[in-house]
Amino acid sequence: MTTKIILTGFMATGKSAVGHLVAKQLGWRFADTDQQIVARAGKPIATIFAEHGEPHFRALEREAIAMLVEHPRLCPQSGNPLPEVISTGGGALVDPENCAMLKRIGIVMCLTARPEIIAARVGRSATRRPKLLEGNLPLEQRIRDLMTERAAAYARADLTIDTSDLSPAQVADQLIEAFVAMEQLRCRPSA
Ligand code: S3P
Repeated sequence: MTTKIILTGFMATGKSAVGHLVAKQLGWRFADTDQQIVARAGKPIATIFAEHGEPHFRALEREAIAMLVEHPRLCPQSGNPLPEVISTGGGALVDPENCAMLKRIGIVMCLTARPEIIAARVGRSATRRPKLLEGNLPLEQRIRDLMTERAAAYARADLTIDTSDLSPAQVADQLIEAFVAMEQLRCRPSA
């Protein structure tokens, strides 16, 4: 049985909120690579970008993903990797190496939403999201451009859910339903 669900996708598509809900419903652990990066660096993401640049942030991101893949938390009784929902930052899948690592350990689910919905959800928190400030463009335009730039990367996910018109609880239900269906397909004995 697959014991990891990886949530990825553009900023403000609900990865953390949905990830927490899915983990709670399945009784799984929840891990967030951005939170791990911030805890290890001892500073917020915007500060990491400002002080050290994006390549440094991406190196920390790759390291956080590699840690989860290579040193999974183990169940003390069985010694097997503990099941968990892992939420990644919105740019994690852009690096094909990250995508390959994540696919080795679980099913990669991408959350998306229409640019105008993302712009409304981001609102004033755009200042905490350095990738949205690049180019000094109107927010919705910047979101459209970055989504287009990343379309091929997000298409590498095993499944995509459009969250534009759904609550986090509805997305969590759809995601679990899709996960169960994928597991049943994978485990079906061949005729
Ligand atoms: C980024 C998304 C952010 C964070 C960083 C870079 C991106 O995470 O990792 O600011 O490049 O899309 P969220 O998607 O959780 O906002």
